[in-house]
Formats: sequence, C-alpha cells, structure tokens
Amino acid sequence: MANVERVFSGVQPTGNLHLGNYLGAIVNFVKLQETYNCLYCVVDLHAITQGVDVWGGPSQLARTTREVTAAFIAAGIDPKKHIVFNQSQVSGHTELTWIFNCVARVGWLSRMTQFKEKAGKDRENASVGLYDYPVLMAADILLYRATHVPVGEDQKQHLELSRDIAQKFNNDFGDSIRGHGFNEGLFFPQPEPLITGPATRVMSLRDGTKKMSKSDPSDYSRINLTDDADTIAQKVRKAKTDPEPLPSEEKGLEIRPEADNLVGIFAALSGRNKADVLREFGGGQFSNFKNSLVELCVTKLSPIASEMKRLVADPGYVDAVLVDGADRARAIADETMKLTRDIVGFIRKR
Ligand code: TRP
Repeated sequence: MANVERVFSGVQPTGNLHLGNYLGAIVNFVKLQETYNCLYCVVDLHAITQGVDVWGGPSQLARTTREVTAAFIAAGIDPKKHIVFNQSQVSGHTELTWIFNCVARVGWLSRMTQFKEKAGKDRENASVGLYDYPVLMAADILLYRATHVPVGEDQKQHLELSRDIAQKFNNDFGDSIRGHGFNEGLFFPQPEPLITGPATRVMSLRDGTKKMSKSDPSDYSRINLTDDADTIAQKVRKAKTDPEPLPSEEKGLEIRPEADNLVGIFAALSGRNKADVLREFGGGQFSNFKNSLVELCVTKLSPIASEMKRLVADPGYVDAVLVDGADRARAIADETMKLTRDIVGFIRKR
C-alpha cells in the first residue's frame, strides 16, 4: 500500500464508549481500512485538557485508554495492517503543537465553538490546554501529513483550523520549504474531512432531540459498548417512543425524533437505509419493531462487548498493541519532525 492516502483520526479516552461512538465513528474507521493507510489514535493528551475530576485521574485514564483500544480491535480494526496507538507515546504531537502555537492566531482559537461550550461561563478558569486543544488536534493530523480525517459534524470547525494552520505554515516558511526541495512550497497537505452519513447520528434513547452522551445521568439513555445482551434488550425495550404506529415513508419521521432515532439505529446496524427499514416495519406497532431491534442490537453488539471484555482482562496484550503502534507511528512522525525543525531553522544533530 505504498502510495495509498493516509487517514488519521482520534478518540478521546474519557468515560465509556456507547452506540453513538460506535455508529458515529468506529464503524467508519473499520470501513476506511480497505481504502487508506490508517492511523487510529487514543488521544490521551486531549483527555487531560479538562479538570482532573472530569477525566478521572491516572488510574481512570489508563483504564479508559485500554478500553478505547479494546473497542477499536473488537470492532474490527486491524492493528497489524494499520496503526493503533496512544498519543502521549509519540512526543512529536506535543512538539509540533508548540511550533503550531506560534503559527495559529489567538483570534482563530477564540472563535472555536467547542471551547466556548466546554469552558462555559467560567472561561477565565479553563485550562490553557483546553484553549489550545484544536492546535494539538492539527498537530495530530499534520504530524503524519494525513490527507483524510473522518470526523463528526462537531469537529468540522477544528478540522478547518487544521487547514488554516497548514496553509499559514506553508506561507510563513514558504522560502525555506522550497529551499528544502518542496518546489511547490507545499509541506503540509490540506487535510480533507470524511464526514460520516446522517443516519449515524445516534440520539438519546430517553429524548430523541439530544445526542446520545456518556455524560447523561440516565444509563437508560445510551447503549454502552460493554453492555451485555440482557442490558441491551432492557434498554431498547424501555426506549422512549410515541403512540403512533411507524410511518411507511421517511417523511413521516420528520417530527418524531424518537421514532426517527430507533429507525436510524436499525438502519445503521443492518446496513440498510431508513426507507428500506420502513418498507418492512411501516404501519406496524413499535412493540413488534422493538423486538426486531433488540435482536439486531444483541446480534451486532454483544460479540463486540464480549471481545472487549476479553481484551480488557488482558492489559498486557493491549499495552503491547499500543507500544507497537506507537513505534510505527513514531517512525513516520520523526521524518516530519526532522524536516519541520530544518524548515523552521532549528539546529540539530546530523
Ligand atoms: N477532537 C476529537 C473528538 O473529540 C478527537 C481528536 C483528537 C481527533 N485529535 C484528532 C479527531 C485528530 C480527528 C483527528 O472527537
């Protein structure tokens, strides 16, 4: 796969993974393995940008880092053919962040909506790391000169910032870049988003207008990737619905967020589209549809849960995967960092 384009994406090891993470990101990661050389990173440096009470401290960080890794593998990511690693093992991420800190503008970062949301009202008290989060994300991608980045809608703005940073670096250091043999003056590529389809936006099982979230106080709002078959069945059965039968056409889902969500989950897990699912279940009662949905969820998700359980019980194996992945990631990162240092003008050992 010598000239194949490169994909980079990251998942934060904070809290438990749920169906939204799976259908919104991981399923897509699995597919992209056929077309690209992929790096999938457990972004532990990003995880610590919020207060220690949010990420849970050192023992939680290690646990959730292994859990995300286990989910990647259990879902079908091949850590031998591709690269699976945790961010903090490759020091290039933080080093490139510093250089990019001097390229990115305060004004750019001040416009980031995710920072405003996460910092909330007490912005003065947010960590500098939280403010700088998008620059670290740009460094993640550009350290490998990745060309394609699968992200959800909520990360689009950050990806645009990565493009701006790449472009400004190429401009600021244009002469030096050309002097180092890049005749077009293009050292960092402009990474393209690979936005996942609309059906993969999974909503809360208790409120179809809210995203499924690890921070929802009700565990019944989400299906965790580690839930066993009984728990999955119970949560699907209790999922909020409305009194009408299912519509026969997609248009009938428009003002029925809960119905729309359950049909969307069914479609995504079965690899069909919503119209097709409604052709089968339209006009029928929810109870019948839910029986099929329970069966589908259990068939698709409980093998992942049991494989995750097996992997989490073998931290030695999981850590070895991450170390091996980090070694291979570092080999790519070191090339970028050597050139970057030369382009900027830093003296180094030859
Ligand atoms: N910020 C991303 C999220 O929360 C995670 C992430 C970190 C990422 N670095 C990345 C995603 C690089 C894509 C590429 O979802």
